[in-house]
Amino acid sequence: MGFSKLGQSLNAREILDLVQDDLRKVEREISLESMASVAAVTTIGKYLNSNGGKRLRPILLLLSCKLVGEAGDSAIRMAAVVEMIHTATLVHDDIIDVSETRRGKPTTNAIWGNHTSVLAGDWLYMQAFQIALRLRNFHLLDILISLTQAMVEGELLQLERIGKIGISEADYMELVDRKTASLFSACARLGAVVGSADDAIELKLGEFAWNLGVAFQLIDDVLDFTARETVLGKPVGNDLREGKVTLPLIYALESGDSEGRQMVETVLRDSNYEKVSVKDIRKFIDRHDGIARARQRAQDFAGKARAIINEFPDSPYQRALADVTDLVTDRDH
Ligand code: IPE
Ligand code: IPE
Ligand code: MG
Ligand code: MG
Repeated sequence: MGFSKLGQSLNAREILDLVQDDLRKVEREISLESMASVAAVTTIGKYLNSNGGKRLRPILLLLSCKLVGEAGDSAIRMAAVVEMIHTATLVHDDIIDVSETRRGKPTTNAIWGNHTSVLAGDWLYMQAFQIALRLRNFHLLDILISLTQAMVEGELLQLERIGKIGISEADYMELVDRKTASLFSACARLGAVVGSADDAIELKLGEFAWNLGVAFQLIDDVLDFTARETVLGKPVGNDLREGKVTLPLIYALESGDSEGRQMVETVLRDSNYEKVSVKDIRKFIDRHDGIARARQRAQDFAGKARAIINEFPDSPYQRALADVTDLVTDRDH
């Protein structure tokens, strides 16, 4: 099962113990709701669900809900909704990025092609909204629709910036906010809403998860340079090959090292590592402490997240959310 991949640490197991039964229901809900009258959608839905994933977003939603109240059917449904939205964005993202591998398996676009995959992604989005609609709660829909728009804006901004070497840290943060942190924040807020929390608590949990989401993406971008492909489930050095200049590289480029800059330009121009290797790029980054500095930024955001969650009264759920923050910064995939 996917979420067992979250980690082998005691913390991870303790967190899972708190949401294990709910997560099983979420998996069932996702399977049941991924069936369409057209075989292509059902087949792709089955394929995606069976490939796992860390289920971090449903876990975040469930823990947030349990922190403030009871996790009933609405929480299970919303947890399924956020995972389906996450899956839909990944399906579309892999088409845009022409990615062949995700979670260690061929992407949907690699198997079924772009046309079918775009439509399957659309279907998944709409199915997620359909499930949410059944709860008859405008506030939930408001969060979900703003969120989906923010994520699409993130992908559009990323497209505008693809292949560009002059990306600033601020440009980068703008992307991270939209494409990743917005969904994390929404998960916590949705959990708070279905747990009947008041507005102030909802926003506070949203802020916690936003910081967590930024830390998560920063670590993801570090792992793109440092992890092994077998652990990561996607190729190493992929971001730059795809034309994405991420934080470790932004820091290295700021140094004014013209030899390094030329190497980056070459990879961006060729979209491959034939003339310049991933190792060369890694050496350039290491010359300027790019990895350590990006990790430090991730720690800064994780620290903010931890400070916010520590303001909540002590409980197993509060501790679990703090542990999730540690896991996100310590993860290797
Ligand atoms: C992938 O998210 C997309 C990013 C925000 C980097 P995850 O790393 O949570 O993906 P899965 O669901 O576990 O595969
Ligand atoms: C992640 O974007 C997908 C979204 C959050 C929409 P990326 O393209 O940067 O991430 P990976 O490397 O494909 O997971
Ligand atoms: Mg991608
Ligand atoms: Mg992308």
